[in-house]
Amino acid sequence: MHLPDYKEARKRDIRPYKRIDFLENSEVKNKYQGMTFYLKTYGCQMNEHDSENIEALLVFLGFSKVDNYEDADLVLLNTCSIRENAHNKAFGMLGRLKHLKQEKKNLLVGLCGCMAQEASVVDKILRDYKWVNFVFGTHNMYQLPEIIDKAIEENKQQIEVFSREGDLIEGLPVLRVNDYKAYVNIIYGCNKFCTYCIVPYTRGRERSRLKEDVLAEVEKLVDDGYKEVTLLGQNVNAYGKDIYDDYTMADLLEDVAKMGIPRIRFTTSHPWDFTDRMIDVIAKYPNIMPSVHLPVQSGSSRILKLMGRRYTKESYLELFDKIKKKVPGVSISTDIIVGFPGETEEDFLETLDLVRRCKYDNAFTFVFSKREGTPACRLEDPVPLKEKEERLQRLNEAVNQYFLENNKKLVGCEVEVLVEGISDKKKMYYGYSDTNKLINFSSRSELTPGDLVMVKITDAKTWSLDGEACE
Ligand code: 5AD
Ligand code: SF4
Repeated sequence: MHLPDYKEARKRDIRPYKRIDFLENSEVKNKYQGMTFYLKTYGCQMNEHDSENIEALLVFLGFSKVDNYEDADLVLLNTCSIRENAHNKAFGMLGRLKHLKQEKKNLLVGLCGCMAQEASVVDKILRDYKWVNFVFGTHNMYQLPEIIDKAIEENKQQIEVFSREGDLIEGLPVLRVNDYKAYVNIIYGCNKFCTYCIVPYTRGRERSRLKEDVLAEVEKLVDDGYKEVTLLGQNVNAYGKDIYDDYTMADLLEDVAKMGIPRIRFTTSHPWDFTDRMIDVIAKYPNIMPSVHLPVQSGSSRILKLMGRRYTKESYLELFDKIKKKVPGVSISTDIIVGFPGETEEDFLETLDLVRRCKYDNAFTFVFSKREGTPACRLEDPVPLKEKEERLQRLNEAVNQYFLENNKKLVGCEVEVLVEGISDKKKMYYGYSDTNKLINFSSRSELTPGDLVMVKITDAKTWSLDGEACE
């Protein structure tokens, strides 16, 4: 049994790691043929992509997928720790599974992902959820076949959580959700330690994949006819810093762009590591989408300092303007937290001010959530929740106004859309534009997911646009 330990997870030194290929363990391969699984994923794209590996590992064991958890022999929750409501959702699901397990004695229940890395969660599972069959952490995913095998064979709770990142595992099997757009991890973990954020504790230090491994994965996607690749990392702009002297995110982006895949996206970018060369590369290659997610978190330099964000409102705006100027038509989205401990009305007004200045194309807005073990958790926090929620509402009103304003500018324009499907409600096709806007549109010719078509925009809404395919 390995239990999570925050003291270990907090250590900031960068340890050397090896690249290890996942070996197909033939002893357990197909051992559980005939059994079914249901996998529920919470949280970010990183988790969604981990689930694509987890599914493949379950299929490797012989399990097949079902769409309803009540029909499954194994229910696995891939969890998220970022805010308290993510915790609540997972524990709510565990509550339903407890009932199901009373009826179905042989039901297997497992929990993995970020919550598994939290000592307090694992303590609670050891104390109050003894019926959960296994828990494994974000650094142990490759061990899933053995952990499940042990949980079944020994009929005993398995807790396998490495608190520190180990070697970097390559060659995990993957079952991608789509056959036209794909996620590719380029860097794991985060070294930034923003004071509110639990990610550096749950995902470990920054570890870049070798460029050869990333490029080989993209090459395979090109060969398989994929149209879009999203390069993934908690902070993609730090790519390469831990393993190369002179190969950066800008170089990787350029090498991926040269491979000719029609669309390249990347997420998430920390403003601190966003170099001029990166901006130049984005501007130079038409297949790098003009769409940048640039989390600001707050418009008050005082709060940014308390958050440990390493930039000021002024230096953020300088970067923002540079991207807007050099990348024609670029859309910029952001993340904003309101109600960070000690945030005053004046600080909040500065955030509103920044929003008015930046006129974001999209924004994900949150009320600060205390994460146990993070420095911000210990700060005095005199502002009542009700007031924070009011700030969130005011912020949302402001950001929404600009989504609509920006969308209206596209009416009459032709944009390229990657078709995702047909919406049930409107019987219209839908997909995303190069600038990552949701487009609902009609088409006289029949289209299939993965098609790239030009669409003339006819109407703008706050969160989407309507259009007609150009014939
Ligand atoms: N409380 C609220 N929001 C948070 N985020 C990260 N940690 C917290 C927290 N403790 C938000 C940040 C980040 C996004 C992924 O989630 O805005 O960019
Ligand atoms: Fe969390 Fe992002 Fe800050 Fe890293 S850069 S600590 S993931 S908010």
